[in-house]
Amino acid sequence: MNSQPSGRTIIHRIPIENVELVVEEEPGPGAPVVLLHGFPFDRRLWRGQRPALAGYRLFLPDLRGHGESDASPPPYSMVSLAEDLRRELDHLGLDRIALGGLSMGGYVALAFAARYPERLRALLLLDTHPLADPPAVRRARADQAARVRKAGPEAVVDELATRLVGGRDVDPEVIALTREMILGTSRDGMVGALEGMATRPDSTPGLAAISCPTLIVVGSDDTIAPPAMAREMAAAIPHAQLVEVPGAGHLAPLERPDLVNAALARFLAGAIA
Ligand code: MLT
Repeated sequence: MNSQPSGRTIIHRIPIENVELVVEEEPGPGAPVVLLHGFPFDRRLWRGQRPALAGYRLFLPDLRGHGESDASPPPYSMVSLAEDLRRELDHLGLDRIALGGLSMGGYVALAFAARYPERLRALLLLDTHPLADPPAVRRARADQAARVRKAGPEAVVDELATRLVGGRDVDPEVIALTREMILGTSRDGMVGALEGMATRPDSTPGLAAISCPTLIVVGSDDTIAPPAMAREMAAAIPHAQLVEVPGAGHLAPLERPDLVNAALARFLAGAIA
C-alpha cells in the first residue's frame, strides 16, 4: 500500500497572525476533502487513507501546535481551531469541502459545522462524539497539562499511548507511530489542546441542524468514543450513515485502513462525486 506522500505532494505553510500552519495537499482530480487528526497527533494519522482518496484533492492539516505547525500560547479552544481551518480554506481558495475529523479533529469539525454549514458538502466523523468533558475527565486533563508544562510530552506518553492503543492486539508499528506523534507534539500544543478540550461545550444541540450528508465511523473496540455514542450521534444527525469497524479501537484509520478506506470511498462517491 502506498501510504507515503506522493511525488506530487504540496506542503502549504500558511501564515495566520504570528504562526505558520502546515497543510499537506495531495492533488487529485476530484472535489476537496480535508481530514483533521486527533489529539495529540499530526497528519500522519491519515497515512493509510492517501491511496484510497487519490481521486480527490486531499488536504491534511497539522493542527496548531501539532506536527509541523507552529504553536502559540495555550489554550486552543475547538472554535479557535475551527477558525484556523476557515482561514486555511480561505488562503487555499477552497469554498466548499468534505470535512472529516478523528476524535479531537471531530470536535473541531463539529465546531466548524456549527459556524460555517454553508462550506460543507459532506461531514465525516471518526471515533468522535459531541459531548462535553465530564468533571473527572476535566480534572485528568488539568493534571496532564500541569505535568506537560513541567516536563513535556515525555511525562504523559506512556499513559496516553496506553489509553489510545493499549490493551489490545494492535500492530506494533502503529503503536510506535502513535508514540512518535505524541512525542512530536509541542508542549504548548499539547497543553493548548488539553485546555481547549476541557472547556468545549456540548455540541449535541447543534446536531439536528447538520444538513449535509454525514458519515460516522467507529472502531468496535473504541473505548474513548464507543459505538454506543456513535449510534446516538447518528440518530441525532438527519442524514447520517454509521459504519462500525470490527477489530479497530480509537484509531480506526490507522488500525484498519482497509475497512475505513472502503467506508470513506463508498460514502464520498455517493455524497460528493
Ligand atoms: C483524541 O484522540 O483526539 C483524544 O482521545 C480526544 C479526547 O481525549 O477526548
